[in-house]
Amino acid sequence: MKLTIDPNDRLGHINPETQGHFSEHLGRCIYEGVFVGEKNTDIPNVKGMRSDVVEALKAIKIPVLRWPGGCFADEYHWRDGIGPLEKRKKMVNTHWGGVVEDNSFGTHEYMELCRQLGCKTYVNGNVGSGTVREMSEWVEYMTFDGVSPMAELREANGSKEPWKVDYFGVGNENWGCGGNMTPEYYANLYRRYQTYVRNYDPARPISKVCCGSDGTDMEWPDKVMEICFKSPEQYHGFMDGLSFHYYTIPGDWDNKGSATEFDEKEWYRTLNKALEIENRITINEAIMDRHDPKGKVGLIVDEWGSWYDVEKGTNPGFLYQQNTVRDALIAGIHLNIFNKHCRRVRMANIAQLVNVLQSVILTDGAKMIKTPTYHVFDMYKYHQDAELVRSYIENETIGAEDEWKVPALQESASMGTDGKLHITLCNLSADKDQEIRAGFCGSVVKGVSAEIVGGEMHAHNTFEAPENVVKKSFDGCKVEGNDICFTIPASSVMHLAVEI
Ligand code: AHR
Repeated sequence: MKLTIDPNDRLGHINPETQGHFSEHLGRCIYEGVFVGEKNTDIPNVKGMRSDVVEALKAIKIPVLRWPGGCFADEYHWRDGIGPLEKRKKMVNTHWGGVVEDNSFGTHEYMELCRQLGCKTYVNGNVGSGTVREMSEWVEYMTFDGVSPMAELREANGSKEPWKVDYFGVGNENWGCGGNMTPEYYANLYRRYQTYVRNYDPARPISKVCCGSDGTDMEWPDKVMEICFKSPEQYHGFMDGLSFHYYTIPGDWDNKGSATEFDEKEWYRTLNKALEIENRITINEAIMDRHDPKGKVGLIVDEWGSWYDVEKGTNPGFLYQQNTVRDALIAGIHLNIFNKHCRRVRMANIAQLVNVLQSVILTDGAKMIKTPTYHVFDMYKYHQDAELVRSYIENETIGAEDEWKVPALQESASMGTDGKLHITLCNLSADKDQEIRAGFCGSVVKGVSAEIVGGEMHAHNTFEAPENVVKKSFDGCKVEGNDICFTIPASSVMHLAVEI
């Protein structure tokens, strides 16, 4: 197959945040997965944050972390999570397993985690069950540098300096778990709530994210754009982003399918559903273009990933699932699509960071493993802050059933901040390797290195065998004139770094 890339045809900037992550108070994501506290644990940590997890996330250059939910966000009352630990209120996590949430991980802990990770912050506010005052005071608490009741309270709790809130979500899925609202009702609430998300420091403005849809209801984004977005000439700053959620579920809601046991038909059905996100993004873009032709507002895909039945013997409310080579392909496909839509897609957050849906890390007590999805993020990190370039791949349609066909190959390419051309390529076939000849529209190829993640479609890492699926260097690339020739194995994701 022929892959054609024009390194000089620059199509847009790839925001690092398109490789973002999402952490929710759900199952063992925060507690155990990230935060073990400072007392009563043998797990090495800094201020309660697991050092192994922090190091692993820094290695993939985690750009932004969304918190505290998800559905949890619209039931979260931030004041319960500040102050002396022993005085923090306990609550029931009604969405996720009905377990006791002791609020030992709150605003200060989240900000400390982001400091250790060196990533941007994305805080999701509570519209569903919170008040305007509560939201406004949270923003004041986190960001105001001066004399005010909230700044004094923050200082009394140990943080004199304000933090930077890069993104603030005004509610989550408010058409569903975030209050079951109609679009008109939410849009009017959004206008009101966002008014009090003050930019106390104009030099460090907060990007405000308005709740969008799950991609099936297109009336929602249309209505909220109509009511909430005004051209910057009219009302500057009502919204900077519109969210959008899309999950890849192989089966249906009540029978999603197993994370590790599936046949070839299900492999193709799942990848077909992963590719569907591109149609949903395109529809969102069309709606946004109608209201905002200048592209001021970013599409924020702040939840995406695979969603399977929970692992046998685990709490159904904890959504704990394994992660195979199929998930590596799902991750590669999504990140390629986000690259190609970088004009509108300014942030995307895979759900969820550790121990939940398509996690990059799984933990069991003191043990930690990196999933196949982790290794894909590790290969794609070179696209962060890069310039998308035009690419095209000859293709064939493959698949086990007519309804669930997929292209054999899928790619994206960018000129990286290191001056190299980075190509990421997925082979969606369960069993067929593909010979590739890559050409570069007249640019001279001076060298190439490559790496790969893949294997048998069910392959995954376990705590007993943590390195079944890892990133490996690939030495099968040959430079022929100004072309690069190689064979990409079936069910694998590759990264080529080309000196040009
Ligand atoms: O990721 C799990 C849940 O899925 C989130 O809490 C919610 O926003 C979505 O419905």
